[in-house]
Amino acid sequence: MEFTGTQLIPARRAAVWSALNDPAALQQCIQGCERFEADGPGQWTAVVVAAIGPVKARFTGSVSLHDIEPLAGYRLEGQGQGGAAGFGKLQAQVRLRDEAGNTRLDYTAKAQVGGKLAQIGSRLVSGVAQKMVDQFFTAFNELLAGGGTHLAGPAVQEAEGSEGGEATLARVQLTVNGRPVERQVEARTLLVEFLRKNLGLTGTHVGCDTTQCGACTVNLDGVPVKSCTVLAAQASGGSVTTIEGLAPAGGLHPLQQAFNRCHALQCGFCTPGMIMAADGLLRSGCPVNDASIEQALEGNLCRCTGYVHIIDAVKEAARTLGVPTGQEAAS
Ligand code: FES
Ligand code: FES
Repeated sequence: MEFTGTQLIPARRAAVWSALNDPAALQQCIQGCERFEADGPGQWTAVVVAAIGPVKARFTGSVSLHDIEPLAGYRLEGQGQGGAAGFGKLQAQVRLRDEAGNTRLDYTAKAQVGGKLAQIGSRLVSGVAQKMVDQFFTAFNELLAGGGTHLAGPAVQEAEGSEGGEATLARVQLTVNGRPVERQVEARTLLVEFLRKNLGLTGTHVGCDTTQCGACTVNLDGVPVKSCTVLAAQASGGSVTTIEGLAPAGGLHPLQQAFNRCHALQCGFCTPGMIMAADGLLRSGCPVNDASIEQALEGNLCRCTGYVHIIDAVKEAARTLGVPTGQEAAS
């Protein structure tokens, strides 16, 4: 996996260089970083908790700097071991230059994963890695815009917007699983964040956050949507059903029963999204057959079960619910 990018950082080059060499600043900007300590000049030990698709692990490793050119750039090498999850390696080249009173940072990075992580699929892993890079630079830019003197803890993030001023807030009113809810949140809050963080409905999963895996699928006004692609404010006024609200309290929906009976899950990470997407098909009035199931689930990835049992489960649920099945029904 290779990444390249450019950031225009609202700070002088000396301040950016200083932050790029400051373990406390780096720890603050790396999401999930529990420890980032200097072992010597340009040598650090880091502990980062990261979730990549169905794999969540604590990675412990080292980071070292090479080819250091003060104020101009360096080459960074890092490696981390995540136990049973596998390992990750990173090489990055960072270059700095002045640009209209700001600092332009250009980077190229190569990442490599092994073990269980390598089985997840490169698209998913690279989507998560790109998101981590984006989150790092968002926090880094905010830190530098604030003069590098404030910590970007949750309270500060709540109070500040992306440009360092007042955050734009939005009042979100939704019916979620049949109940009215109302919250004031940052306007940029994604629907999936709203469901998980504001309402505690963690049955909706986040696998990629980049519209690729479908783990975040929910029903919005009768249609399955990837809730990482919709702002909570955009959905305001609508009705959302999540996996928690699919079946009556204490029971299982026929899709849930069929997934269980047909062995259509292993780790279960993709399952809420699969079921919500399949539910959309069963509700659509379309006939349920191999072709329509494949079409309905084409945006949902499963990395451990394979799709044969999942398709069997959707067909079984359709039969239970009396939805037409078979090729003849598709015409
Ligand atoms: S989290 Fe993967 S599509 Fe939304
Ligand atoms: S990703 Fe594990 S069951 Fe689908």
